[in-house]
Amino acid sequence: MCGIIGFAGHEEAAPILLDGLARMEYRGYDSAGIAVRSDKWGLQAKKSRGRLETLYGLTHGGADLDGPLGIGHTRWATHGEPSDINAHPHISEGGNVALVHNGIIENYLEIKEWLLQKGVHFVSETDTEVAVQLLEYYYRECDSMLEAVARLIHRIEGSYAFGIICSDYPNALIAARKDAPLILGYGKGCNFIASDVTAIIKYTRDVTYMSDGEIAVVTAESIDVFDTDLTSVTKARSRISWDVSAAEKGGYPHFMFKEIMEQPEAIQNTVSPRIRDGRVVLDKFSMTPEEVRSISRIFIVACGSAYHVGMVCKYTWERLLRRQVEVSLGSEFRYRDPLVDENSLVVIISQSGETLDTMAALREAKRLGGKTLAVVNVVGSSIAREADHVLYTWAGPEIAVATTKAYSTQLALLDLIGLYFADLLGTVSAEEYREILEAVQTLPEKMRVCLEDVQKVQYLASRYFNHDSIFFIGRNLDYAMGLEGSLKLKEISYIHSEAYASGELKHGTISLIEPGTLVVALGTYEALFDKAMSNVVEVKARGAEVLALTTEKFRDRMEKTADCTIVVPDTHPIVQPSLGVVPLQLFAYYVALQRGCDIDKPRNLAKSVTVE
Ligand code: G6P
Repeated sequence: MCGIIGFAGHEEAAPILLDGLARMEYRGYDSAGIAVRSDKWGLQAKKSRGRLETLYGLTHGGADLDGPLGIGHTRWATHGEPSDINAHPHISEGGNVALVHNGIIENYLEIKEWLLQKGVHFVSETDTEVAVQLLEYYYRECDSMLEAVARLIHRIEGSYAFGIICSDYPNALIAARKDAPLILGYGKGCNFIASDVTAIIKYTRDVTYMSDGEIAVVTAESIDVFDTDLTSVTKARSRISWDVSAAEKGGYPHFMFKEIMEQPEAIQNTVSPRIRDGRVVLDKFSMTPEEVRSISRIFIVACGSAYHVGMVCKYTWERLLRRQVEVSLGSEFRYRDPLVDENSLVVIISQSGETLDTMAALREAKRLGGKTLAVVNVVGSSIAREADHVLYTWAGPEIAVATTKAYSTQLALLDLIGLYFADLLGTVSAEEYREILEAVQTLPEKMRVCLEDVQKVQYLASRYFNHDSIFFIGRNLDYAMGLEGSLKLKEISYIHSEAYASGELKHGTISLIEPGTLVVALGTYEALFDKAMSNVVEVKARGAEVLALTTEKFRDRMEKTADCTIVVPDTHPIVQPSLGVVPLQLFAYYVALQRGCDIDKPRNLAKSVTVE
């Protein structure tokens, strides 16, 4: 995620801002910038694509920018590729407001249209520039920056943490937040804003956490907080006791755990800007309705967990689109002479956008004349650039090798794309469209419910962590979800694990079941729940210990048969794997923790596999 820092004090701001940005490097970024205000020069900003060293070089370690008030930003691209122009801070056209932003402004296109009609000129592709131009517009009208910020946050929809400086205000910076983190830091003769405590822990451990809808005015001597109606709010201070490495992980012990916990927010960021008035709206999606209607066959190509997303998608899209969907591993697809033609859609799924086999598969699909659509997390990555069409998951940077939030945002985005296509193809009823869309919209809140139950999963992990071999069984969407549950477990805990389609048990696997074997039985797919129960009975009859996963609806039945049961909320069957996978991620995490494994960097594995 983007990193924000702001400083108001009596010494030069620029070196402090650069230092703060360097401490947030672990969050991941593709460009960086700072803006500083001085009486002599007004606002000065420097920003650049690439590593922070470039910005250090550009500013001679900050020495080129004068002034005791400033804001800084590391950007992780969402709207617009990583570039000097799209980097923050963004400066208003009139030149007197500079702003940094973390989050996504959902109605930015509508506001941009409105501002364009008023004669405002834009230079970047970002949603953030819309905020700074609108802010200047309001500032001209009301002549108070605080009031202009209040008007801004009433007008925009989406998530934001803002840091703002204005050339007319020599001593104060303004901050605001909603659904994106922002803290206020109390220093000695200076004060701060920051996305996380790592940026400022060197200067202070006294902080206040801003709440949604609050606006703060920060000077060297004071911090005043207001609500959206500009009524003063009294905030409690907290004392940070974490060390720097814990602070990087937001107080969580591992990046993987932090990223599991971030999933509701990541899904919200990915789906909510794409749902408007009960419809899926894919802004800037370059595929025309005619192209969509010409699709006769769909290939999904990916590696690792992204391939497992494809496995889920095969079931959901075939149901929704009534088109054949074939899922292929990147490493297989590229060498197998696939039957791709001009009526084929080849969907490439990749978190990094750099996986070599996936990239080669994309090139092969293009060579064969297929239409290619990339679903990617890293903006401007190789796959995103080379595919004919691209849609981004807005999960933010993922640091842990074992993916969690990228997987779940891919699932959610593919649900939306599936609905969008099905609508164009006329293969989904209005009622089902509405039900699925509602299920996707309520996913973040239902996922939060799953994440409240960590103690139970932790207990189960402590009960089963020393098994040598664990089987995951399920049917249909539960089978696809089991593939991911099993991969998570083996990659970070090093326990041998396999996932099987339950119907295949009798064709071999059941011979491996003996007294005490742990079987994770997945029974969340409503249509085949009875069959899932039969398989539980079968493995129990051979002495297996059964850890079951089901939904509220089937809780009672499952609890009567399985040895222990994890329950997730009910939702539409197409969306159910997005909830079911959460306890499986947590189970893998806690088992690996019990076994003392290096969770964020499992042996022999890499986050991005750029070799064959
Ligand atoms: C590696 C990662 C996995 C990921 C896979 C594909 O194996 O550890 O988490 O699913 O690569 O990566 P991609 O970036 O293409 O999604």
